[in-house]
Amino acid sequence: MFHIPLASLRAQFGDIDIYLFDQLLKGRIQKGMQLLDAGCGAGRNIAYLMQAGVQVYGADISAEAIEKVRKLATEMAPTLPSKNFVVADLDELPFADEKFDVVLCSAVLHFARSEEHFKGIVQELWRTIKPGGMLFARFSTTIGLEGKLQQMEGRFYRMAHGPVWFLADENLVIAMERELGAERLEPLKTVLVEQDRAMTTWVVRKAV
Ligand SMILES: C[S@@+](CC[C@H](N)C(=O)[O-])C[C@H]1O[C@@H](n2cnc3c(N)ncnc32)[C@H](O)[C@@H]1O
Repeated sequence: MFHIPLASLRAQFGDIDIYLFDQLLKGRIQKGMQLLDAGCGAGRNIAYLMQAGVQVYGADISAEAIEKVRKLATEMAPTLPSKNFVVADLDELPFADEKFDVVLCSAVLHFARSEEHFKGIVQELWRTIKPGGMLFARFSTTIGLEGKLQQMEGRFYRMAHGPVWFLADENLVIAMERELGAERLEPLKTVLVEQDRAMTTWVVRKAV
C-alpha cells in the first residue's frame, strides 16, 4: 500500500492555523478565489494558499511584515503581483468594496486600540467581502474567562504574559453580527489556554 509521508504535511502547510486548516478541509477556500489576509504578519497562513492557486492579498501595519510576505510570494507564487501586499491599518484598506471571497484575520483584533477601532476594523473587513463571501477571524476574547481576567479600563485587560489587550466579549461579537447582518458558518469556538487566555474562532458569511 502506498503511504504519503507525514513529513509532507508540514512541508505543505507549515505553521498554518489549525482552525483555518479546518476551513480548508471543509472546502470553503478554493483555487482562484480572491483572499485577503488582514494582519498577515510574515504570512504563515497564506504560504500554502499562495502555492495552491488562491489569489492572495495581504495587509499589515508593519512594513517589515509586508516585505517578508512579498518575499514569500516571490518564492511560492511568482505570478502574484507584489502590489497585492500593502502596508495599511485595517480600519482603512485600499481595496474595493466586495472584492474578496474570503477575508482572514488571525490573531489581530485583540490589538485594536479602542472599541471604535475594533468595530471600524470589522466593518472595513466586511466592506471588502463579496456577497456570499466568508470572514474567518481568530482573536482573544473574555469568553469562558468572564470575571477571571485582570481588567484595566473598559474592554482592556492585562494578560498573564504581560501585554494589555482589547478583549471582546460574546455580546460584542453578537452585536457585530447583527449590525453586519452576518450569518454564522460555525458555532463560536473558544479555546482556553492555561486558564489565562481565551482564543475565539469566528466564522461568518455575508448574505447573498
Ligand atoms: C500576532 S501577529 C499575527 C500574524 C498572522 N495573522 C498570523 O496569524 O500569524 C499580528 C499582526 O497584526 C498586525 N497588526 C496589528 N494591528 C494592526 C492594524 N491595526 N492594522 C494592520 N495590521 C495590524 C501586526 O503588525 C502583526 O503582523
